[in-house]
Amino acid sequence: MQERIDQLLQEVETLNASSGEEVEQLRLRYLSKKGLISALFEEFRTIPNEEKRLVGQLLNKLKTRATQKLDELKISFEEGGEEEDADLDLTRPTGQVRLGARHPLSIVRNQITDIFARLGYSVAEGPEIENDWYNFSALNFPVEHPAKDMQDTYFIQRDPDVLLRTHTSSVQVRMMERVQPPIRKIFPGRVFRNEAISARAHCIFHQVEGLYVDKDVSFADLKQSLYFFAREMFGEETQIRLRPSFFPFTEPSGEMDISCNICGGKGCNICKYTGWVEILGCGMVDPQVLKNCNIDPEIYTGFAFGMGIERITMLKYQIRDLRLFFENDVRFLKQFTGAI
Ligand code: DAH
Repeated sequence: MQERIDQLLQEVETLNASSGEEVEQLRLRYLSKKGLISALFEEFRTIPNEEKRLVGQLLNKLKTRATQKLDELKISFEEGGEEEDADLDLTRPTGQVRLGARHPLSIVRNQITDIFARLGYSVAEGPEIENDWYNFSALNFPVEHPAKDMQDTYFIQRDPDVLLRTHTSSVQVRMMERVQPPIRKIFPGRVFRNEAISARAHCIFHQVEGLYVDKDVSFADLKQSLYFFAREMFGEETQIRLRPSFFPFTEPSGEMDISCNICGGKGCNICKYTGWVEILGCGMVDPQVLKNCNIDPEIYTGFAFGMGIERITMLKYQIRDLRLFFENDVRFLKQFTGAI
């Protein structure tokens, strides 16, 4: 019996298998109730007592080794042994990965800054939390001027000098205070006004401000630059018109309309049957504003303009409700997949 146990021990040490199924066959052959090792345990009962100690040790050793060996083989297949690794195809396509989309306001902001970049404007930004000087006073808003109410400002209660900027014009002042002309900059950013939320207004929206200050900058330069912008943004056939207006920080001031890009100027409910839609405010920088920023108005002149990104985006993509921009509804957002 000892000899047969020794023989099985050797056999067990050299066991090998090429699949999980073969391992199971081997387990049945050696370790199942009807297997070879169980049969030896049966036989063990019948041998003379004086042999039992030695044979018992050997038999236990055989059982332990066989169990270890078969466990090792089993694990190697469960973990995906070498054979399965060889089948692994790393070039197989995965499941479909959904493309994200840029927010339409980001798309249009980038388009606006790109168009002005071609005219030599570079981008700068300023803080959203401002003080009275940058948002109002330096821009020539007189103390207690109703315009401060007009822009329904969010003031900080503990310190009314601190406020959420109501327009990006504040960044003009910061720029002019810091550098002497020539200045040719475009300032995109978020602005805040205490407005009831509706299809046409929101308490948070976005603007792009432009500023060009140099020697001999004229109103004709302003008009030509904005005409270029309108055609690049809304198409070659776009017409513009300037209407007189008022802003404390520009003199003269104007508002610019474009020919309605929806009806082509014929009249529709977007342009209220006038053929024109307003897109921005503009004007020549008031000499007092230049002075406030330590720029000499005897030497330099400049123009500025400001527009709402939501408004441009609504016209460009024919979006009728401003609230859609802020609701994060993927059904709306995914329509812009692929746009840049
Ligand atoms: N800041 C103005 C607003 O929020 C827009 C504006 C008008 C900006 C005329 C300008 C400008 O720079 O020249 O309504």
